Amino acid sequence: MEKLKEKIMKEGQVLSDDVLKVDTFLNHQLDPVLMSEIGKEFAKRFEGMGITKIVTIESSGIAPSVMAGLEMQVPVLFARKKKSLTLQDDLYTASVYSFTKQEKNQICIGRKFLNEQEKVLIIDDFLAKGQAALGLIELVKQSGAEIAGIGIVIEKEFQEGGEQLRKIGYRVESLARIKSLKDGMVTFKKEEEI
Ligand code: G4P
Ligand code: NA
Ligand code: NA
Repeated sequence: MEKLKEKIMKEGQVLSDDVLKVDTFLNHQLDPVLMSEIGKEFAKRFEGMGITKIVTIESSGIAPSVMAGLEMQVPVLFARKKKSLTLQDDLYTASVYSFTKQEKNQICIGRKFLNEQEKVLIIDDFLAKGQAALGLIELVKQSGAEIAGIGIVIEKEFQEGGEQLRKIGYRVESLARIKSLKDGMVTFKKEEEI
């Protein structure tokens, strides 16, 4: 998605060889015009698949998801993160390890919001090592719902998440695919390589 790549080039800050800061439009301050176009792009890429619900995770997955949900006219359900979780049987839960924060989090979704009738599109802001996506997949699987695909705003190709998810057989659509963040520079994967 050209506009997103331009925005990353203009405003993204390479913090290290593996972390890109995009808090001017995605992770802190939000750019609603860009988010709206991101929503339209997800809707286009997953058109005609019979998707009934979008599932994401708080907090940064919510903005792109709600714009996609508006475009696709489906509800958006966000998994919540909880550090300690007393056993509650009205929840689907999974545990997600964050490499960035080096901590394990429980994520959960209320059972009443997802069942085997649903066809789900999973959306998140970043795909790095894939732990968040795998956690969301686990929650959706518990509900018996079908997973139509995974939509990602920014994929870091040099980390293993995307490859892993595609290998399992999921359709992963990433709107910007970053090949490298080496030497303080953002290098995108060329379209012809995709
Ligand atoms: P993973 O889920 O792909 O395995 O990645 P990881 O555990 O490393 O990611 C933890 C958090 O960091 C996630 O957000 C993820 O979206 C984000 N993240 C991963 N790589 C980058 C990056 O290069 N830049 C930025 N800005 N974020 C990155 P989170 O902790 O769930 O936070 P939030 O959704 O509340 O923003
Ligand atoms: Na996220
Ligand atoms: Na994030």
